[in-house]
This record gives sequence, structure tokens and C-alpha cells, in this order.
Amino acid sequence: MLQSIELPRQLDVRPLPAPVHAMVHDLRCRIEAFQDRWDMPQIEQFVAADYQLVYQTLAWIRESQMLIGNRFVEWGCGFAAVTLMADALGWEAVGIESEAVLIEHGRQTLADWCGPLRADTAGPTASSPELVLGNFLPPGAEDLADDPTLPSLGHLTESAYRELGLGVDDFAVVYSYPWPGEDQFHEQVFDRYAARGAILLQFCGPNDMRAWRAVSRA
Ligand SMILES: C[S@@+](CC[C@H](N)C(=O)[O-])C[C@H]1O[C@@H](n2cnc3c(N)ncnc32)[C@H](O)[C@@H]1O
Repeated sequence: MLQSIELPRQLDVRPLPAPVHAMVHDLRCRIEAFQDRWDMPQIEQFVAADYQLVYQTLAWIRESQMLIGNRFVEWGCGFAAVTLMADALGWEAVGIESEAVLIEHGRQTLADWCGPLRADTAGPTASSPELVLGNFLPPGAEDLADDPTLPSLGHLTESAYRELGLGVDDFAVVYSYPWPGEDQFHEQVFDRYAARGAILLQFCGPNDMRAWRAVSRA
């Protein structure tokens, strides 16, 4: 079962460290350029979140919530902005993405911004953030969906957990940006596979952040 975590109303006025601000601006430009390319196949499932608000929410979670561990995973990391911000906030951060071209962009984001963000923020871990090309759904999770057309389904890449040597239940925090209509599917997958006490953070659209804690088996 999942218990909703009430998020404070004014998260969006929390201060943003200058390097995070600069990174968010740079990524907006990179993503816009990527989406404007006419000579490359478009990745329709990639839409960027409001990274500023995601950072503000993550920072609040980091300082206000009990955490069962220090591992963080971004389901469908795209350009890896959120994985990078989680690293800067002190989590051991992993991003999983099924599109190879996005993993390449994510690696570039880490190469360019990991140092500046780590230099200024709360205290990163020793290890670098890890990006894995693969499926964020653990084997069998697709069976929880009642709509076979959900965008998270049908990815031909292997589940990423084998390569990671970790399961969903090894992560204290999972972040996802579900496509409209698949938020409940992500919640169900999290509820089935995450450790009790773990937190799911979702960006569901402008000004719509949601947080859940797994509290007992469904
Ligand atoms: C809406 S975008 C969100 C990107 C990024 N997390 C953010 O917040 O800006 C969803 C991403 O998830 C990826 N994705 C969708 N289903 C996936 C799956 N089953 N396994 C891995 N990646 C997936 C898509 O390729 C896309 O990059």
C-alpha cells in the first residue's frame, strides 16, 4: 500500500543553488536543440520535467523525510538532469533509460555538470552517478498494467536491474515522470517491487509533484 506524503505548498520558493540554476538553463537549451533536430528520429516519449521544481522537492525530501537508505533511481532518465541533482543532494544516484541516444545525452550532462553541482551542494557520495541503458520495469511488472498501450510498456531493452546487480527494493527513493494516464501503473509497480518505507516521487505535470511512501504489502 502507498501512503501519500503531503508536500508543502510553497516548495517553488525554496532557493536554488546557482550551479543548479545554470544547469537547468543549459539543459533546457540542449533539450530544445535536440527536439528541434529535423534530421534525427524524434523520441516521442521524452518530455522534460520542471527541473527547478523537482530539485526543490528533492531537497525538501532529503531534509524532512526518514529515508531507508541512500540509493536513488530515476525511471526513464532522459538527459539525466534529475539523476544529477539527486547526486548533488548526496544520494547514490542511478538513471535508467531505454533510448540509447538519450543515455548518450545523459552521459554528456554528467560529464559537464557533475563537478560544478558537487562543488556547491550538500555533499555527494564517493561514487559517480550511474546511467544504465535498459528497462526500468522489473521482469513481470508489465502484467500489472490493464492498458497495453501505456508508453512504459513494450520496450525491447533488457530490464536494467540485472546489470545494476540491484533490485527495485534496493532503492530508498524512486523518481518517475509518468505519461498522462500511467501514473497509477508506476505507483502499482513501485508498490509491488519497492522496499517498505521507500519513497516514490512523481512529476505529473506543471505544479503537480506527488510523493508516496510504501507502507505495507498490498
Ligand atoms: C516523460 S520522459 C521523462 C524524462 C526525465 N525523467 C525527466 O523527468 O525529465 C520519460 C522517459 O522515460 C523513458 N522510458 C519510458 N518507458 C521506459 C521503460 N520502460 N524503461 C526505460 N525507460 C523508459 C522514455 O524514453 C523517456 O525518456
